[in-house]
Amino acid sequence: MSATRHREFDVTFIWTALLIALVGGFTIGAYLIWQIGLQHNLPEDFPVWVQAHGHLQLVGCVRLFIMGISLFFIPRLAGVPLERRRRQEWILPLTAGGLIAQTIGRLLYGCAGEGLARGCLRAAVAMGGVTEWLGLMAYIAVLAPVALRRPQGKNTGLDKLRPYFAMMAAGWVLYATLWVWFAAQMAGTGDMVAPRDWNQWAVEVELALVLFPVAYAFSVRNLPYFLYVPPVTAPVGRWGYAYLGATALVLGGLHPWALGAAPRTALTIAALGRVARDGIMLWLVWDLNVFVRTRPLPYILAERSELNPNPPPKPWRRWFDRPRWGRPEWLILTAYAWLAFGTTVDLLHASATLIGGRFALSQDALRHTFLLGFITLLICGMAQKMVPGFLHKPRLAYPSLVIWILVFGNASVLCRVVPLLLPLGRLPPRAISAAMLALAWSGLFAWITIALTGWNLWQTACLRRTGDVPVR
Ligand code: HEM
Repeated sequence: MSATRHREFDVTFIWTALLIALVGGFTIGAYLIWQIGLQHNLPEDFPVWVQAHGHLQLVGCVRLFIMGISLFFIPRLAGVPLERRRRQEWILPLTAGGLIAQTIGRLLYGCAGEGLARGCLRAAVAMGGVTEWLGLMAYIAVLAPVALRRPQGKNTGLDKLRPYFAMMAAGWVLYATLWVWFAAQMAGTGDMVAPRDWNQWAVEVELALVLFPVAYAFSVRNLPYFLYVPPVTAPVGRWGYAYLGATALVLGGLHPWALGAAPRTALTIAALGRVARDGIMLWLVWDLNVFVRTRPLPYILAERSELNPNPPPKPWRRWFDRPRWGRPEWLILTAYAWLAFGTTVDLLHASATLIGGRFALSQDALRHTFLLGFITLLICGMAQKMVPGFLHKPRLAYPSLVIWILVFGNASVLCRVVPLLLPLGRLPPRAISAAMLALAWSGLFAWITIALTGWNLWQTACLRRTGDVPVR
């Protein structure tokens, strides 16, 4: 326990997320894309594997990671310690246990014989969905009192970020509730594929209501320390509401009921929302000063606090600090470059839809630009900046590994996304073979990225602790 009543960082969330990513999500993705790229046979129940991969990545890898960091981060930002500590201990086992039970049930169902085995697997799927939902409810029950309380009416670092964390909570509840329904349907019918249109919508919900807002909220707070950029000056809260309005149009337009009732109108509404949302996101990225500095850098950034135990060195020392940390900020920079790229492509596509033009855009490529290029690289970069500090470690165990994580991470996004954006039908056969080969290798590159990140963090956790960090 530190000098305050705040709880120490629970690193088991990070180890579980990395383990599920390496054994489950990334391995399944790598296997599927290998088979697709080399034109080998796909598993008979391919849609089940695809959905299992997506769900493992979104819940097992990304959600657990965000939960672990936010349980440490949000109470400190709000200046209110966590109270419901016993409930906190249920979050990880319920979420991870439910996810694993559900995934095993779905993947083994096809090869189990009739009778008792299938009954047990159906029960595992149904129970897994509910257990995963209960894990999320435990998380919200633990964090809601912290996020809603204002210590003696004081302004806190959380105030302007509240709309983003509220979107995160709403998005997770919606996604998890849909998955309880999917799991119940699968268990009832024995068809282990979630309804495709609803499942696609659930992925949109997760991306738009959870991942973009939470990535922005963490960036507003951390990028000044990680990238040495000036703090944002924009009215962050108001931009959050504008983003929510645009997202409501996107999700309303892409909703299966709207698409079923009036597809043309629904797609137009979604395209309008996409134009507005992409515009807002590009403006927010610009305002973060990630690529171009438009404001001077104030010196308050050298403050030391529990949230920022390793503040940036003075400019002349930055070069000399490299042996301790490597350059995780390059991972963050490239993550933002992928976000800007994906958002621009989506903006062009949505604008073309509005004016009646057409160009084909692979939704799979766009989704992976955001999920792999932005979210995964951002997590890899931020984790190597934050986790050592949270664990009171003086440095990264292997700073030189960071450059390899950067190389493999970006290679995996390039190989996973670019081949799908090319007009393959109009390319010569050699170029098509090269594109398919790149696609096949993308999964392995991504797996290596996560394995190297996990190894570096694990070895860092084994280093000796520095003295306790002073708390502001
Ligand atoms: C290089 C690494 C990755 C590979 C090789 C990969 C592979 C795949 C493949 C082959 C599909 C099926 C595409 C189709 O429908 O034809 C897919 C879908 C998907 N992937 Fe990935 N993926 C990777 C990384 C990620 C990451 C990091 C995330 C999330 C954080 C993610 C989330 C998803 C989701 C949500 C879907 C859609 C699932 C569904 O339709 O239910 N993937 N991926």
